[in-house]
Amino acid sequence: MSAHSLPPHRKVHVDLGPRAYDVLIGKGLLAELETLWSQTKLHSPLVVIADEKAWGSNRLKNDVSPLLSETEHAFFLIKSGESSKSLEQVSRLMSEMAMQKISRSGTVIALGGGVVGDLAGFVAATYLRGIAFVQVPTTLLAMVDSSVGGKTGVNLPEGKNLVGAFHQPKLVVADLDALVTLPRREFASGMAEVIKYGAIRDLALFERVSTTVKPTDADLDSIVETCVAIKARIVEGDEFETKGERALLNFGHTIGHAIEKATGYTTHLHGEAIALGMRAAAWLSVWHAGLPEADAKRIEVALTSNHLPVKLSPDVDRDAILSALGNDKKISSDGHNRWVLLKSLGEATSGHELPHDAVEKAIDLIYTL
Ligand SMILES: NC(=O)c1ccc[n+]([C@@H]2O[C@H](COP(=O)([O-])OP(=O)(O)OC[C@H]3O[C@@H](n4cnc5c(N)ncnc54)[C@H](O)[C@@H]3O)[C@@H](O)[C@H]2O)c1
Ligand SMILES: [Zn+2]
Repeated sequence: MSAHSLPPHRKVHVDLGPRAYDVLIGKGLLAELETLWSQTKLHSPLVVIADEKAWGSNRLKNDVSPLLSETEHAFFLIKSGESSKSLEQVSRLMSEMAMQKISRSGTVIALGGGVVGDLAGFVAATYLRGIAFVQVPTTLLAMVDSSVGGKTGVNLPEGKNLVGAFHQPKLVVADLDALVTLPRREFASGMAEVIKYGAIRDLALFERVSTTVKPTDADLDSIVETCVAIKARIVEGDEFETKGERALLNFGHTIGHAIEKATGYTTHLHGEAIALGMRAAAWLSVWHAGLPEADAKRIEVALTSNHLPVKLSPDVDRDAILSALGNDKKISSDGHNRWVLLKSLGEATSGHELPHDAVEKAIDLIYTL
């Protein structure tokens, strides 16, 4: 194998003791995948599970092919979209892997957005009781959020992410070149999570992204690095979501998930639903956590300047949102929703119980401008 040096890049270490790993962020990293491979001491056979659209952009294909040409591997293309996150898909992949005699020493490479990352991660978590895996996120959302932290899983017809496992990757390679082909709407969806990180933990990050319409390339690597570092610190403190800290990442997600569910996961991309949920949560924060009104308005401006929706269409059924809220997976054992609210921009607190009428008022608010 050739051993070139890596192009300049940023690195976030996720310190989880025996499960620690690095997240590398930069341009041109995938072209050096062979170097990364030997540095991280990963083993063959490889199992490449790739999103069809991400793979269809020739850049990724060209970058990954040299490693594949000289390494024993299995290769699977996954149909784009949330419906690929299913147990049927897991079963198909695992049967193929078994037929191709993929052993425990093998390594799964997830090449795609959150859908492929969650699916491939779950396959890696459970095939032969768990094999190594590497995340190569190709959407902004996957780079700043889903590829880091070890949550893997698939959906059931009864609900999203109802089957899953914690399984940390051995390495995450966020090559910003992959974003060149990402549709603008998908990019904006990822920016919703970036705004979320700023709102819950980092006022400076919030201010950076609330004024720029689209970050320049030079900005983007440090924005991704900042988000990954925030997620890494939160995950380090609460790897298995038992202590409450990881719940902070759900800011805007309680109502966001309810909107996704009420609209059958077809109307809004995840980040778009979360944008609406963050607007509602911002005003709930004003009413119940002391967030200054001006800051809720700044959140609205940040969302709008990043081409994210802040107003729900009247076609969306209000009752469906309310009933979906009753079914949120994050409801605590006593049956109440626990809300993440902002005390100030950059500082979130979790565990809030809210009166029903306040929640209804916040939902009514997002039907208006
Ligand atoms: N595990 C976690 O912690 C976590 C966190 C947040 C979200 N998620 C999950 O992530 C999923 C959403 O992820 P997502 O927003 O990345 O969606 P996605 O994986 O569906 O990708 C979005 C779209 O972009 C396309 N695409 C991907 N890379 C591309 C590229 N480089 N160029 C062109 N097109 C490309 C895909 O084919 C798809 O159409 C959801 O299933 C959600 O549940 C998981
Ligand atoms: Zn999210």
